[in-house]
Amino acid sequence: MPRSSVKTKPILPQPEHQSLCQQVWGLDWSREFPVDLGDGVRIEYKTFHEAQPLMKTLLPEVYQLVPGTSRFGEADPHHFKEKYFSALGDFFAFYEGETNIGMAIGTLLDWSSYNFRNIAVAPAYQNKGLYPQFFEVLSRILKAHGVARIEGDVAPTNRHHIHALNKMGYIVTSMTYGERWGVLLHITKYLDEADEERLGQLYSTTYKTDAAANKKFKGKG
Ligand SMILES: CC(C)(COP(=O)(O)OP(=O)(O)OC[C@H]1O[C@@H](n2cnc3c(N)ncnc32)[C@H](O)[C@@H]1OP(=O)(O)O)[C@@H](O)C(=O)NCCC(=O)NCCS
Repeated sequence: MPRSSVKTKPILPQPEHQSLCQQVWGLDWSREFPVDLGDGVRIEYKTFHEAQPLMKTLLPEVYQLVPGTSRFGEADPHHFKEKYFSALGDFFAFYEGETNIGMAIGTLLDWSSYNFRNIAVAPAYQNKGLYPQFFEVLSRILKAHGVARIEGDVAPTNRHHIHALNKMGYIVTSMTYGERWGVLLHITKYLDEADEERLGQLYSTTYKTDAAANKKFKGKG
């Protein structure tokens, strides 16, 4: 039987839902948000059930994908994905007034790492620095709760995102390829300077000059 035809029980909203970040790190997102970014923009924390209707409108506008035309298949049953995000997902909705202008999604990756899974800023609001501003807030909160790193993946052709990530201090830590998302650069932002220093010493021949130059550079995030 193909995996896509597997049927399970529907997902119900969980009133007592406690995110994994709260269970493992004691990080209660609802105490950290909403955050005002200035200029009338704020970020709210949402559960999967609150975020789902927003994403249905925002993501097609941002990614401009035509359904059914992607070469990269998702063979998994859709309800598994929804259950996964319902149980593990942290959703951060960007608002100007009552208009939803962006969405970031993350999940706990392991005991010391956060997986930054998706960022989408509405086209009319891109290039205004919203993503780096949000990232600064996110990394400050995670660091304050003892999280060591934020990891994620980006398509090598996504120059806009790569540019933003570079200024935030992300480092490419591997490259992956697969049938689900094609080729991806795996990226890591070290929240503990000592870890980045160790990485440089272990793997970079230009470690000394990199470290000196990076210290001087005050990028966003
Ligand atoms: C990528 C994205 C998250 C960035 O968010 P944002 O809020 O627009 O980020 P910024 O405001 O910092 O972007 C502006 C910077 O990007 C640079 N930039 C814009 N387009 C660029 C491009 N095509 N190539 C390189 N740099 C680019 C600008 O010059 C500016 O640089 P500066 O800060 O050095 O002046 C957002 O544009 C987006 O949602 N894109 C579509 C969805 C997407 O790709 N998500 C990531 C999936 S992995």
